[in-house]
Amino acid sequence: MNATDAEPSAAAAPSRTLTVTIIPGDGIGPELTRSAVRVMDAACAMTGLDLDVTEERAGAGVYRETGAALLPGALDRLRAGDGVLKGPVGLPEVRRPDGTEGGLLGGLLRNGLDTFANVRPVRLLPGVRAATTAGAGSIDYVIVRENTEGLYLSRGAGVRTHHAAADQMLITRAGTERVVRFAFEQALRRSGAPRDGVRRVTCVDKSNVLRSFALFREVFDEVAAEHPDVEADHYYADAAAHALVTEPDRFDVLVMENFLGDVLSDLGAGTVGGLGMCPSGNIGTDAAYFEPIHGSAPLIAGRNLANPTSQILSAAMLLRHCGQAEAARLVESAVEGAFAEGHITILPTGSPAAGTEAVTDVVLEHLASAARARGGTPDMPTTEPTTERKRR
Ligand code: IPM
Ligand code: MN
Repeated sequence: MNATDAEPSAAAAPSRTLTVTIIPGDGIGPELTRSAVRVMDAACAMTGLDLDVTEERAGAGVYRETGAALLPGALDRLRAGDGVLKGPVGLPEVRRPDGTEGGLLGGLLRNGLDTFANVRPVRLLPGVRAATTAGAGSIDYVIVRENTEGLYLSRGAGVRTHHAAADQMLITRAGTERVVRFAFEQALRRSGAPRDGVRRVTCVDKSNVLRSFALFREVFDEVAAEHPDVEADHYYADAAAHALVTEPDRFDVLVMENFLGDVLSDLGAGTVGGLGMCPSGNIGTDAAYFEPIHGSAPLIAGRNLANPTSQILSAAMLLRHCGQAEAARLVESAVEGAFAEGHITILPTGSPAAGTEAVTDVVLEHLASAARARGGTPDMPTTEPTTERKRR
């Protein structure tokens, strides 16, 4: 965007550039990331930011070609920019010799970049039809999933014979402490549970059965004691699954082991309109990347059937993480406005009735009218991407 057609405050600010690396991924990944980049580009333009997009190929397609899911030097390139937006990866036919999927990036990126906190907001937006009796606004919690250890540390490293297989769960004091601290910090930035406005962090575990989970809870309680201003709460994982369906409004922030977080975040998505509604951030000390919580759905790839909302909301999380709270808020408001109007119908299959492109266009139209309301650029992009000019 050039400074002369910016709104007055943006015109006065020096031009800034946000460098974002896109991992298009497999299946529906490329079409989703394209949608999200169009939206990000528009929101950045409104806040006087230049969006500079580079692509990093990774995932199952790359694994099939090269035998590795990441190209050499990828982790350094991903660390170098301001932010990383990743599409879903994986192709069911791409398998390792042991039968597990080849080309998944979870272990490589989460452990490789040490992004120890997987932040998964679950929100029921107005205008979204969901499989719950809860009303919009009454589901608004964040699952903080430990992202570098737990059961998934055994990814690709379990023991297997013809007759038996074993994967181990690793819980460390240090790994638990850092993610629990992160969860309490999240709670301090939020305004509490929808039911009562109480800031609350819920520890989810099976400490009644397994020693590993007992250690997780012990560390949780130690960190909780340092936060008298936030209510500390405990649920066994099975009871948590029940409560997330029957009384989701009591939850604010939940923290849990990797595998539990994987499962319960999909459960949460099921209560707010499906996986296509749920973004996530993988956050570490010196790296972060943002992605939908769902898979690459190769069966519907390229058919304009995927819901781009999770990818677009992941882009908003990225913007906020990069210090661009205003751009993030613009994207979130545009998504909320688009659904609140009632013009977006998500079918029981999870697909938007009008298609991927149509949802993206409605979100862009909401951004454009926000720009007009701010007295800014009347010729804001609506349906035409402006980002293509920056793609390299
Ligand atoms: C997720 C996904 C990944 C995970 C898969 C695709 C490896 O399900 O991000 O939740 O298990 O973490
Ligand atoms: Mn998952």
